[in-house]
Amino acid sequence: MLYIGIDLGTSAVKLLLMDGGGKIVNIVSREYPLYFPKPGWSEQNPEDWYEQTVEGICELLQGSDKSQVAGISFGGQMHGLVILDEKDQVIRPAILWNDGRTGKETEYLNQCVGKEKLSQYTANIAFAGFTAPKLLWVRENEPENFARISKIMLPKDYIAYRLTGVHCTDVSDASGMLLFDVKNRRWSQEMCDLCGVKVSQLAKCYESYEKVGTLLPQVAEKLGLRDTVAVAAGAGDNAAAAVGTGTVGDGMCNISLGTSGTIFISSRQFCVDANNALHSFAHADGSYHLMGCMLSAASCNKWWMDGIIGTKDYAGEQEQIKNLGEGRVFFLPYLMGERSPHNDPNARAVFWGMSMDTTRADMTQAVLEGVAFALRDSLEVARSLGIAPERTRICGGGAKSPLWRRIIANVLNLKVDVLESEEGPAMGAAMLAAVSCGEYSDVKEIAGKVVKVVETVEPDPVLVEKYEKRYAQFKKLYPACRPLFAEMASE
Ligand code: XUL
Repeated sequence: MLYIGIDLGTSAVKLLLMDGGGKIVNIVSREYPLYFPKPGWSEQNPEDWYEQTVEGICELLQGSDKSQVAGISFGGQMHGLVILDEKDQVIRPAILWNDGRTGKETEYLNQCVGKEKLSQYTANIAFAGFTAPKLLWVRENEPENFARISKIMLPKDYIAYRLTGVHCTDVSDASGMLLFDVKNRRWSQEMCDLCGVKVSQLAKCYESYEKVGTLLPQVAEKLGLRDTVAVAAGAGDNAAAAVGTGTVGDGMCNISLGTSGTIFISSRQFCVDANNALHSFAHADGSYHLMGCMLSAASCNKWWMDGIIGTKDYAGEQEQIKNLGEGRVFFLPYLMGERSPHNDPNARAVFWGMSMDTTRADMTQAVLEGVAFALRDSLEVARSLGIAPERTRICGGGAKSPLWRRIIANVLNLKVDVLESEEGPAMGAAMLAAVSCGEYSDVKEIAGKVVKVVETVEPDPVLVEKYEKRYAQFKKLYPACRPLFAEMASE
């Protein structure tokens, strides 16, 4: 049988066709626009997601036997607020995970409701990108829209709804709404009360590998598929990526270098760090995970390459970088503010330490290293909890760069396991579809059978030591800039 994984990303939807043995048959990608209507705001049009997903599925299946398609599932950009009226029409553009407009609402939740209560209800505190602060923002700033809300959905769940007619979500994605009691895997009545919404306005919550329905007949006809094709709930893109990279079970680690950058640690037991610097979310395999999320990772490199120096030759630029661990330029990668661990929507990117002899290659190196240092900030929180992974898997567009993988291995002092394919979320989504159809008994089984490590990047002790010193310097830069970020944001 064949399975379709849909990764609804921020710059594009990626679709992957996998056979029952886990072999990738085809991959296609379709872009859609991202809107920044004001500094720090980030929105998309859910109709664009749907159109590109449908066209993408048609392209994906060209040349394949469509009658063999048994299941579809998702990985999706997390936290985005999609609101529907009573006719299931989208009320306003989706407010995305990297939108920083909710500084005031986040502050209210953390300071007035209090971090302790939030953590007790949801296992997390408020971050600007989470869904609940966005609901409060709509309530305050667009009361006419708030009054019309009939359903509150996450991005990938809107696509599931359009395909099946079912309002559904899954435990991993629901975890990032700050409306979900992660420990008990159910909606939090307390949080709904605080945000002025009813549990009935939220979608029914499934485990990621559970079937939520089948294709609507008119959708099946359009796609040329049978209307018995099963649709499984799927997962937030990081949990889906973890499935796709085999990061299931206890204490496994995955780094995703996509638009965002995340470090994801799977855990059989539910756990929370004392300061809630890491997110404590449900995993797509039925267990839990801790995660640090930086808002701009591969997107920093894309911004620097495409936007500023104007090249598409990423590999050519990286070939000029020779002095790993010895660069004097630093880059703070906070182009969209920062989530983990600083929780500061006002933070902005900074180049630091240039002199007359600084070259373009030095600055490219600083960008790659800055992202690695910021990921290390989250890893240090995990290490402070006694969670000390020795190795990590890696996925996302940035993982294609051998140089960046080497920098990550040495800055974080982790062995980096490179996989046959870096298609984390789309692969994980297809794997969840296969589990929902009974092709495998559970997520652990398929991960064990399908995911293959092809190379390991070992940290080099000399480089690790050099980067240790540079990280100690990097760590001092954000606290030095923080007061200025706040001052400039209030102008
Ligand atoms: C995770 C997060 C991002 C988005 C990116 O908390 O906000 O990784 O899911 O798509």
